[in-house]
Amino acid sequence: MASTVLVGTQWGDEGKGKICDLIAGDFDCVVRYQGGNNAGHTIVVGDRKYGLHQVPSGIMYPDCVSVIGNGCVVNPAVLLEEIDMFERDGITTANLKVSGNAHVIMPYHIDLDGAYEELLGKNNIGTTKRGIGPCYQDKMARIGLRMQDLLDEGTFRAKLEVALARVNPQLDRIFGMPTYTVDQICETYLPMAERLRPYICETGILLNDLVEEGKSILFEGAQATLLDIDHGTYPFVTSSNCTAGGAVTGSGVGMKNVDRVLGIMKAYITRVGSGPMPTELSYEEEAGHTLTEVGAEYGVTTGRRRRCGWFDGVIARYATRVNGLTDIALTKLDVLSAFDTIKVCVAYECDGARYTSVPEHQAVFANAVPVYEELPGWKCDITGCRTFEELPVEAQDYVRRLEEIAGCRISFVAVGPDREQTINRFWK
Ligand code: GDP
Ligand code: IMO
Ligand code: MG
Repeated sequence: MASTVLVGTQWGDEGKGKICDLIAGDFDCVVRYQGGNNAGHTIVVGDRKYGLHQVPSGIMYPDCVSVIGNGCVVNPAVLLEEIDMFERDGITTANLKVSGNAHVIMPYHIDLDGAYEELLGKNNIGTTKRGIGPCYQDKMARIGLRMQDLLDEGTFRAKLEVALARVNPQLDRIFGMPTYTVDQICETYLPMAERLRPYICETGILLNDLVEEGKSILFEGAQATLLDIDHGTYPFVTSSNCTAGGAVTGSGVGMKNVDRVLGIMKAYITRVGSGPMPTELSYEEEAGHTLTEVGAEYGVTTGRRRRCGWFDGVIARYATRVNGLTDIALTKLDVLSAFDTIKVCVAYECDGARYTSVPEHQAVFANAVPVYEELPGWKCDITGCRTFEELPVEAQDYVRRLEEIAGCRISFVAVGPDREQTINRFWK
């Protein structure tokens, strides 16, 4: 199998976990390259359902190496909880590896995430409050602590002292929050470090050795294109490069070793958190609340109700371009079965101008009014379809039209949460 980057194309929760789990068995290694436990990737295998936050979705396959790459941020307590959960269920974590260069989420990152959001008031980002932004902020400020620092108490204490010299005055003087001492943090983090020691290694070397042996790698993106710090709807974004380019910087594998880019795209759109979303339908507008309730659009990480709307073709084209998509996996087509007709946004209008690509200026995007095309629905259950031909002709036409709009072939169509509920059109 050719090495592949799997990437979210909208605002997250497109079904990356499901597709990653579906194809991971064909790869020798799955690597997460950015983000942390802000991610919530759902895997459904038979009657078991897992919501993964830190561990890559390749974990279900014992022979597949699962790597948390250098571009990630790690909450050690959450990682240990996931490791324990899998081991309890008889799923081995012996092949899990964590980069020594991944950054560690500290308790003060979580405090600051909440405090910054409160300070922003009605302009808040609606973060997951997992400390992701402040952790990446410290990484860029060069005062972050990395997984390798956890392995040597002296180093950990020395670096923590430097970090606290900058963090404590903020907590205390700006936000009136309790401060931290080195001893206090060591007391909780060092025992976790001992448990994590066997997993921490130089994953850059490990991955490149695999490449040299001719093995294949699946790069599992978290979050999504429109949440990317550079290419997303800034400032309503996360703090990492979720787009395909992040796969190389976040893993240490060279670009020439990436063969394909698989974009995960929901058959409609959801977003959780603040920020513009041109095709958004209010819960009341959404007749029968079909997208929200049939689509079960509630966050895996925070339980928040996701904002729902019609498929946005402008964003789909943008995602094809920014990520260099070679294939698309279209998910949750089954959720649209209830509609008589289905709308698809093909352009935006703002102040009399028409936009067929994502407007660069934030204000234009925020005020964009969608131009819709209306397609006939199919009004029948498609969750049992396993080939493209079994789909009603209206559903086939819907898929073909999205393919045209996105400018990339749709290689998978998912018609339910289970691994089995997937149509493979072109993926080999
Ligand atoms: P991720 O963050 O991209 O991995 O996506 P999430 O796991 O947060 O959200 C996707 C949700 O949709 C999960 O509950 C999946 O089990 C579910 N799901 C994935 N594909 C399909 C599908 O084709 N149909 C339906 N009905 N549900 C799906
Ligand atoms: P997966 O991988 C959907 C959103 C948050 C918020 C913004 C910034 O499951 O698709 P952060 O905590 O990252 O600083 O929050 O990004 N967000 C996600 N939305 N799915 C995710 O992950 C998300 N991770 C972060 O809601 O708007
Ligand atoms: Mg999710």
